[in-house]
Amino acid sequence: MTTAETPAPATVMPRIGEPAPAFTAVTTQGEIDFPADYAGRWVIFFSHPADFTPVCTSEFMTFASMQKEFAAYNTALVGLSVDGLYSHIAWLRTIKDKISFRDMKNVEVTFPLIEDVSMRIAEMYGMIMPGEDSTKAVRAVFVIDPEGKIRTVIYYPLSLGRNFDELLRVIKALQTADHFAVATPADWRPGEPVIVPPAGSCGTAAQRMSEQNDGLHCEDWFFCTKDIPADQIESAIRVKGDA
Ligand code: BEZ
Repeated sequence: MTTAETPAPATVMPRIGEPAPAFTAVTTQGEIDFPADYAGRWVIFFSHPADFTPVCTSEFMTFASMQKEFAAYNTALVGLSVDGLYSHIAWLRTIKDKISFRDMKNVEVTFPLIEDVSMRIAEMYGMIMPGEDSTKAVRAVFVIDPEGKIRTVIYYPLSLGRNFDELLRVIKALQTADHFAVATPADWRPGEPVIVPPAGSCGTAAQRMSEQNDGLHCEDWFFCTKDIPADQIESAIRVKGDA
């Protein structure tokens, strides 16, 4: 038993910059070998607390409705809860047959939903937070890049439904940062100025301050931005041939 003298072992949680922990699992779309099956694609791997619950239902309907938009940015969706496969199948069928939410109805969830009754994978990814609930996963989100590296981690409590526009914004911002070697400021959306990181690549402070040419605009030596038009970003990060 855990006492004041023997604290509970620290939960190991995957961190940004580390390889996504590997596992095989049974899903509503067959078996997967994760993240190997997703090599070359971005993945949003997320957990929800339980099937047949209202907030989770609203999240699945929203995510499924946006699946094509995520696919347009080479991004696959993979869900997980500690429910079993037959529960997942029954819940997703009920969503399709019976639930309307906002302007969504007859929503079919075609991305894989992992069954994890043993909590093996949920524990591996630090999705169980006993202070919130010891038998359900919290709403965790892991953004994993085409090399299988974790690039963003976000956690929400049980009561708070996620913002899926924000997750799409995260995907676009990470891909823009990678492609153009820039960073993105608060609340950035494609078409707004990006941050050009200081040091090394952009010359000395004096050069930077005088370089209002070349599209670089510096407020001070440490705060330089430049414009990248939205259509240039779209043509760099959007999957070719996608409408
Ligand atoms: C829900 O998805 O509605 C929910 C799940 C677990 C606890 C509270 C709410």
